[in-house]
Amino acid sequence: MTTQLPPGPKGRAIRHFWARLHNNADFFARLQAEYGGIVYLSVPFRKLCVIFDPVLIQQALVEKRASFEQGPGYKRATFLGGPTVLTSDGDEHKRRRKLVQPSFHKQALNGYAETMIDETDKLQRGWRDGQTIDLVQTTTATALNIATRTFFGADSRIDPGLVGEALKGVFWDFTLGQLPFNRYLARLPLPRNRQAQAAFRALDHEIDAIIDQALDASQERNDLISHLVRAKDEGGVDRSLNRAEVRDEAYVILMAGHETTANVMAWMFYCLDQHPAVRERLEREIDGVLGGRRPGLADYDRLVYARAVFDETVRLFPPVYYVGRQAIEDSTLGDYLIPKGTALQPCLLAGLRDERFFEEAGGFKPERWLEENDHPKLALSAFGLGVHKCVGEAFARMEAVFMLAAIVPRWRLNVVSSHPPVVNSLVFYQFPRGFQMTVRARAATAP
Ligand code: HEM
Repeated sequence: MTTQLPPGPKGRAIRHFWARLHNNADFFARLQAEYGGIVYLSVPFRKLCVIFDPVLIQQALVEKRASFEQGPGYKRATFLGGPTVLTSDGDEHKRRRKLVQPSFHKQALNGYAETMIDETDKLQRGWRDGQTIDLVQTTTATALNIATRTFFGADSRIDPGLVGEALKGVFWDFTLGQLPFNRYLARLPLPRNRQAQAAFRALDHEIDAIIDQALDASQERNDLISHLVRAKDEGGVDRSLNRAEVRDEAYVILMAGHETTANVMAWMFYCLDQHPAVRERLEREIDGVLGGRRPGLADYDRLVYARAVFDETVRLFPPVYYVGRQAIEDSTLGDYLIPKGTALQPCLLAGLRDERFFEEAGGFKPERWLEENDHPKLALSAFGLGVHKCVGEAFARMEAVFMLAAIVPRWRLNVVSSHPPVVNSLVFYQFPRGFQMTVRARAATAP
């Protein structure tokens, strides 16, 4: 086995820590420009290897995955009582994935579609021509309503605000998870810790109530929590998820599925505004398919260009722009040694903007997704790859397409500021200063 470590800056652990907190995406871009496809560096209390080369990302996530388990940032979550589909490895992960997957099968998704259509339609009902809205707030609220109703049932009376509070707690916990001694920090009587605990208690109570309903087999239900409760591992002996496991999976799925989709939906309208020819083609498609009527489930398959718009947006602005792993033994990637204990961060964004794989990689070209993609095996998906590939990809795509179908026939959205939105990005791409757009009625903009 080679003894050569990947290139990278020596020492400076504290400086790297601050650079990551300040703007991790910029920090990654500088590392890649200076050192290339794989970089090894110090951060406080550990060594970190950031991977930009899709071939090496593929090795880490697929071919050599037995050497790398889910990263410390995932496993340190204190809001979880035990392992989940996102945080477990090996056989435990296989079991959980089998139990979680049916909640996202076509039949279940089709059952969620009506909620998605309903909520995306509601979002634009109160808009007035010329009004300025904070688009991120809007897409986040809609994604939260959709998550609340698909997770807890379309008839649920749970206040999405409560789910939102619990999610804030989850993100706070994840942010603490990036810091050393996070378990101690999470126990301090800080206001944010107290708010998070109170929201978790309240949401746990609601999840318990839905679990009770789901255990009553006479009730027909198509919400995600009921799917989780009723899921059976056919190979195992009574290996369904118990109450605590359902609760933990629900938290992780909420966390993984909410802000990610909301951010991509906001970026979609930003990209459409910047690319009028794409917007016009999309308007033609949606007008032609819907002809002024409300969208329905069957329209999803017909809105081919809308799906391509989503795919291109998520390529350029992947909300999960890196994933986390940890070396559980000495291993190699390419010509380099990755010592046991190294934290690994494969940067999906780098592959998605790599000129070797995407012609005019910096451009917004949904058309490229209408052609056959000949790199299916490389790390060129914003949804990750290997056994942990996103389980909610089809859910996210459906939600985004129905949002386009609700808004595009009636409105054009124009960016207010000439500067691109500010993103802060230690965990996900986020917009700390919001994202202002002006809403224009299409009837008023028609030539
Ligand atoms: C545009 C939206 C989304 C993006 C870009 C995205 C991206 C990702 C990525 C990159 C991973 C892999 C993580 C890793 O390898 O460590 C992942 C995993 C996951 N995602 Fe998504 N996701 C999105 C939406 C969703 C939605 C809507 C849900 C559910 C409602 C969801 C649920 C999950 C879950 C449960 C996992 C863990 C799967 C496993 O470890 O086996 N995601 N996602």
